[in-house]
Amino acid sequence: MTGHSAEKHKKARLLQKQNADKYHHPREKKKQLRKFKHFLTGEILEVFAGKGNLTKYYTKYGRVTPMTIDSFNTIYKLRGHKKKYNVIDIDSYGYPDKFFPVIFEMMTKECLLIFTFPVVGVNCLNGITEQHFINFWRSARPTIGDVTGILTDMALREWYLLQLLDVQKIKRIWRFVYICNRKKATEFCGVKNR
Ligand SMILES: C[S@@+](CC[C@H](N)C(=O)[O-])C[C@H]1O[C@@H](n2cnc3c(N)ncnc32)[C@H](O)[C@@H]1O
Repeated sequence: MTGHSAEKHKKARLLQKQNADKYHHPREKKKQLRKFKHFLTGEILEVFAGKGNLTKYYTKYGRVTPMTIDSFNTIYKLRGHKKKYNVIDIDSYGYPDKFFPVIFEMMTKECLLIFTFPVVGVNCLNGITEQHFINFWRSARPTIGDVTGILTDMALREWYLLQLLDVQKIKRIWRFVYICNRKKATEFCGVKNR
C-alpha cells in the first residue's frame, strides 16, 4: 500500500467507525426494504447490526436480535439454541460467505434473506481474493447468477426453495434479497411417505 492509499484507508475506517452514512447507506437500504414490508415480521436476525441504523427500522415490524460483536462465532451459538428467524439480514463490510450454509438451518418455514455483497471488480483482484471466490462461489469473478446458483444448492439441502426477489446496487455494494420457502421433502421427489 502506498502512503497515500494507507492514509485514505485509515480515513475510511475512522468514518465507518463514526457511522457515517457514506459507508452505511441507511436511506437506500431502507428504501429497498420497504418493497418487502409484507415479509418483515416475527423474529428478525441482524448479523452485523453496527450502530443500529437498520435495527430501528426492523423494530417497527418484529422482535430484533442485533448482533454487534463476534458474529462469526455467535451465529453458531444461536444455531445451537435452535433459534429460527423470519428475517435474516447479513450486513458486513466484506463478503457474507462464512454464514452459508448455517443460516439455512436457522429459518422459519418462510424467511426473507437479505445480505450485502461487495460488488466484484473486473480488474486488479489480488490472488487470495480470487481464490477465495473460486472456493466459495466456483468462479473467479462471481456474478449475481453464480451466487444465486450456489445458494440455491445449499438451500435445497435443507429443503428450501430460494427465489431472488431483488438486487440493489448501492455504490460499491450489492444488497441481495431472497425469499426462502421450505417445501416438504415429498414435494421434491414426488414420493409419498407411507
Ligand atoms: C456495514 S456495517 C453495517 C451496520 C448496520 N447494519 C447499518 O446499516 O448501519 C458493519 C458493522 O459491523 C460491525 N462489525 C465488524 N466486525 C463485526 C463482527 N465480527 N461481528 C459483529 N459486528 C461486527 C462494524 O463495526 C460495523 O458497524
